[in-house]
Formats: sequence, C-alpha cells, structure tokens
Amino acid sequence: MTALATLADMQQAARRRLPKMIFDYVAGGAGDETTLAANRTDFARYRLEQRVLVDCSAQDLSATVLGRALPQPFMAAPVGFLGLCAPRGEQQLAAAARAAGMPVCLSSFSMASIAELRAHSDGPLDFQLYVLTDREVTAALVDAANAAGCGALYVTVDTALTNVRDRDVRNGFRGVSRMTPSMLARFALKPGWSLPMLATGMPSIRALDPYPQFGRGALAQAANLGQRIDRTLSVADLAWLRKRWPGRLVVKGVLSGADAVKAREAGADAVVVSNHGGRQLDPAASAISVLPEVVAAVGPAFEVLVDGGFRRGSDILIALALGASGVLLGRPIAYGLAAGGAAGVARVIEILRAEMMATLALMGLASVAELKARGPAALRLA
Ligand code: FNR
Repeated sequence: MTALATLADMQQAARRRLPKMIFDYVAGGAGDETTLAANRTDFARYRLEQRVLVDCSAQDLSATVLGRALPQPFMAAPVGFLGLCAPRGEQQLAAAARAAGMPVCLSSFSMASIAELRAHSDGPLDFQLYVLTDREVTAALVDAANAAGCGALYVTVDTALTNVRDRDVRNGFRGVSRMTPSMLARFALKPGWSLPMLATGMPSIRALDPYPQFGRGALAQAANLGQRIDRTLSVADLAWLRKRWPGRLVVKGVLSGADAVKAREAGADAVVVSNHGGRQLDPAASAISVLPEVVAAVGPAFEVLVDGGFRRGSDILIALALGASGVLLGRPIAYGLAAGGAAGVARVIEILRAEMMATLALMGLASVAELKARGPAALRLA
C-alpha cells in the first residue's frame, strides 16, 4: 500500500481491481457530472496563507466533532454497498477506522447491520437514515442505531429520488433487482475481486432481512428501499426524529444557508453541506463553494460539516478555515477498501494525515485548533 502516494493513486488501484460496473457505480455522478467535477475544481478558488519564522516543529490534528474528541477532523461518510467494494467491506472499514479513532457512519444501504458492525468494533459509530414511507421500519432502524450506541443519526435529505447516473444505465446497473448472466460474466473478468466475494455468500442488506416486503438479496432490497424513500419528507419528520433520537441529529444534504437554518430550527444539532458527491442534483453548487454561506447563516454556535471532493489534506484544511467542524470522506474510503481492504482504508487515513501535517507546518501553524482560530484569514482567494 505504501507505493500508493495519493488518494488519486488509490482510485486507480480500485479501478484496476473492481469490475467496471462497480467502479462506475462508486465513481460516477448524475447528469453531465458537472457537480462531481466542481466538487474538486472549486478548491482551486482558494490559496493557503504561508507564514514563516514561527515554531512549527510539531502539528496536532486533534479536534472535537459532534461532541467527540477525535485524533483528526475527518470521518467516513455513509456509502452504500461498501460490502461490494470488498468482502465484508463495512467490517473491514470499521476495523481500520477503530485503529485510527475515526468515526464511521453506516449507510442505510449496507450489507452489514449496525448491530453486526457494533459486534465487530467498539470504535465510534454513527448511522445514516433514509426516512421511508414505512414509518415502522424507519423507527426500527433508528432504534437499532440507538441500541448499537451510535453517537449521531445522519438524516439524508437530498434523495427524494435517486437521480439517474448515466454510467449505471450504460452498465445495466440501474434499478436491477437480481444478478443477470451478463453481470456474472463481467464479474468473472475480475477474479481478484469476484473470488473472495463469492466466498462471503449471497449479499443482502442485513437490516432489511426481517422485512419480506423489501424482497430477498441486496439488489432487490436496494431497489425497493430506493422506491420507499419518502418524498414528502419535511421539517415535521425531523421533529418526529428529534423526539425519538436521543443522540446528535445531523441533517445531511443541505446546499443553502436557508435550508441549514430550517434544519436547525427543526431541532438538528448539525448539518452536512453536501450534494451527495455530485450524485443527485446536477448541475448544483459544489459543496465547498456553499460552505461560507451556510456557516454565516447558522452562526458559530451551530456545527457545520461538509463533504464532496475532499482528496487532499489541504482540501480539508480549507474547509476548516471556512468554518467547518469536520469533513466526511465518501469515495476515498470505498477506493481504499477496494484496493486493499482494511489496509487500504488505513493508507487513505495515513496519506491525509501526513498531507494535513505537512501543509499546516508550511502555513506556520501548530494545530488544527490554531487554523480554526485564524479562520478565513488563513486563506487567500486565487
Ligand atoms: C454515497 N453517498 C451516500 N450518502 C448517504 O447519505 N447515503 C448513502 O447510502 C450514500 N451512498 C453512497 C454511495 C456511493 C457509492 C457514493 C460515492 C456516495 C454520499 C456520501 O455520503 C457523500 O456525501 C459523498 O460521497 C461525498 O463525496 P465524495 O467524498 O465521494 O467526493
């Protein structure tokens, strides 16, 4: 893994290992992938302020995010189907994350249930919820997350429908409800991936196994789950969740100051500025471009997280300077798992930590806390 120098290298390693259909599912975005691209390119609006002649012999990346003291201010975003990136992908992620003190947010679209993940890891875990038209199942998922000791419930609000991703259509991966012979033939072309996957048996979304209305097997369950995401989701539902969920309530998927204020007024403890990694509305604003507006709208007492396109330690530092308390990583985690399982995720974390430390040192800063105190003054516009 050490020959992989950057997260871009990790992406290439994942591309080599995964069947094209699975790689494209992870890498792709909606529409013309304008937002997907902007999530990366808009970091170039900023330059970092260089400061010299100060002691920067050591760097401290620790930070408090959602009430947890963390060794570094980044976390694993909820990503569906991690169990298709690597055998027992969610468990492998949990193992690597636990060793690094990194919280993992388990997606509703996961092979492992939250109880299984908790049995595997005593590290910090969170759960991502889609509010379903079936409120009983929704409530059961919330209660399972609570029973598993999750610190935060992320309610994803930008997925009233799952937008079309053209790569999935071309690959025959959109809306499929069972494995087809053509899929199996294509999977056979990547034995390094398919043989270990075969050994783990027929994948399913374990949390949904007790509910026959979702069908059998991961593909059928995912198709049904997608159709049952409640399009009428409103602030009243957030208030319902606020009553039911005792931990931190995080609203994921806001892209304006006004919506962030709405979430705060409905009882949320934090928002994630996110466009779902460019997988939903396209063209929408990049996450980093909206972050300052959201921070200004909610004020300093309310926590703002952000995700979308973070691939360098410097990207994370830009978001922290702009007022984010933490950053979520989606695809980099999936690529790490695909490229090397738990060791791949550990390498992703190591690369980002090393980049953050070197960058802070060259900015003349000793810690993330110092960077946050300096705020936007640590940046210049390009
Ligand atoms: C996601 N994302 C996501 N979000 C969510 O709330 N629930 C989910 O089930 C998923 N599933 C999912 C699958 C895949 C393959 C990807 C790439 C993303 C979105 C995710 O949490 C996050 O917002 C983005 O991935 C962040 O962008 P980057 O880091 O991937 O650029």
